[in-house]
Amino acid sequence: MKNFEQFIGSFSFDGRLAEIDIIVSIAHVKMLVKTRIINSYEGKKIVAGLASILKDLKKGWKIPKEEDIHFAVEKELIRRIGAVGGKMHTARSRNDQVATDLRLYIKDAAKTIENLLKDFQKILVKKANDNIDVIMPGFTHLQPAQPILAAHYLLAYVHMFQRDKERLEDCYKRVDFLPLGSAALAGTSFKIDRLYTAKFLGFKNISENSLDGVSDRDFAIEFVFCMSVISLHLTRFCEEIILWMNPEFGYISINDKFTSGSSIMPQKRNPDCAEVIRGKSGRIFGDLTALFTIVKSLPLAYNRDLQEDKPPVFDAFDNIKMCLEVMNDMIASLKFVKENTLKGTEKGFIAATEIADYLARNNVPFRTAHSIVRDIVLYCKRHSKNLSGLSICEFKKFSPIFKKDIFKYLNAKHIVDMKISYGSTSKKSIVKQIENIKRKLK
Ligand code: ARG
Repeated sequence: MKNFEQFIGSFSFDGRLAEIDIIVSIAHVKMLVKTRIINSYEGKKIVAGLASILKDLKKGWKIPKEEDIHFAVEKELIRRIGAVGGKMHTARSRNDQVATDLRLYIKDAAKTIENLLKDFQKILVKKANDNIDVIMPGFTHLQPAQPILAAHYLLAYVHMFQRDKERLEDCYKRVDFLPLGSAALAGTSFKIDRLYTAKFLGFKNISENSLDGVSDRDFAIEFVFCMSVISLHLTRFCEEIILWMNPEFGYISINDKFTSGSSIMPQKRNPDCAEVIRGKSGRIFGDLTALFTIVKSLPLAYNRDLQEDKPPVFDAFDNIKMCLEVMNDMIASLKFVKENTLKGTEKGFIAATEIADYLARNNVPFRTAHSIVRDIVLYCKRHSKNLSGLSICEFKKFSPIFKKDIFKYLNAKHIVDMKISYGSTSKKSIVKQIENIKRKLK
């Protein structure tokens, strides 16, 4: 191994913390001036030097390689303003510095993802509103179960992503602690003002224990866990998009640009975007496993293993961000094929529960009603009929309670309209649900 320094270093992946690292240093230096640990002349010189590096970075200039981004910034500062630049590292260590940088990075990343989730929810609510009369089969075990409104289906995802947002907000609370001032592990003998630095950097709290301050990575794990649950929810949605697009279902279409053709089969439109989003879960769950494994068994306080925390955090964030951006556009283009979704409700004896409920409302114990309807369904299967193809005489053979009005209960729209319990699928319930969600999304 020739390049040992490169091996133990993190410069190849922590470069994206450069700007944050400089802002953290500016805050630290201002605090050192305020607490008179360094004089204001020196402080101004350092801050101006840091600001000039920041400006150049923003213009696209590349900072020369060092072991890690913290050394790179410090060395560049000393190159620009001389040895006084070395005063910047008074009363801190790279251990508390990197923990601070990563927390700031994650705070920003969490807000970005929250905003994307909110956009996604708004798209879903609009879709639900626009398709409020579309009826489709609802499934359990992927078998036709009962008819539902397509809007009801879409809103289920709005609620999932609402929890994802709230989970991120909760995670944010624990990220929002400043570890800077923990120094290497034991704190420092300098009379620093950590609250000042926290306020400058927009942290709500400061860490209480310097050992914990430099060694804690729960916040990163929690953030990647949040990314993992979002990814998990996206896989469920994408799986259904893939299924509903299959001609066997034919329930939906999405814009062609989210699909691709086959190199051999000219007729194909494959749902690649949905598949890639589903597949991305593999690496995102992997990122979570990586973090768990890196932190597992580490003795207090800082260990160099922790340096490996950054690639999984960045990877999970980048990929969820891309997935949500694609998902937002893809779902905005989604169209229901309502003839097919309605046709779907004609398969699989989807009115069966409603017939059992009909009997139960007429005083038949539900268990008995269940078994009567099971016999009706078996009869239908044997005679290749569906429920609405039965005559009233046939119904009456199974129970004298059936009256002519039973046919009303075989109609999917009627079945949907009857579901009036809180949170259910009737249009009335769904309109209410949309109102409630819209209030939350304001
Ligand atoms: N590059 C290191 C990291 O990412 C910075 C901290 C190094 N600290 C140390 N004592 N070697 O974690």
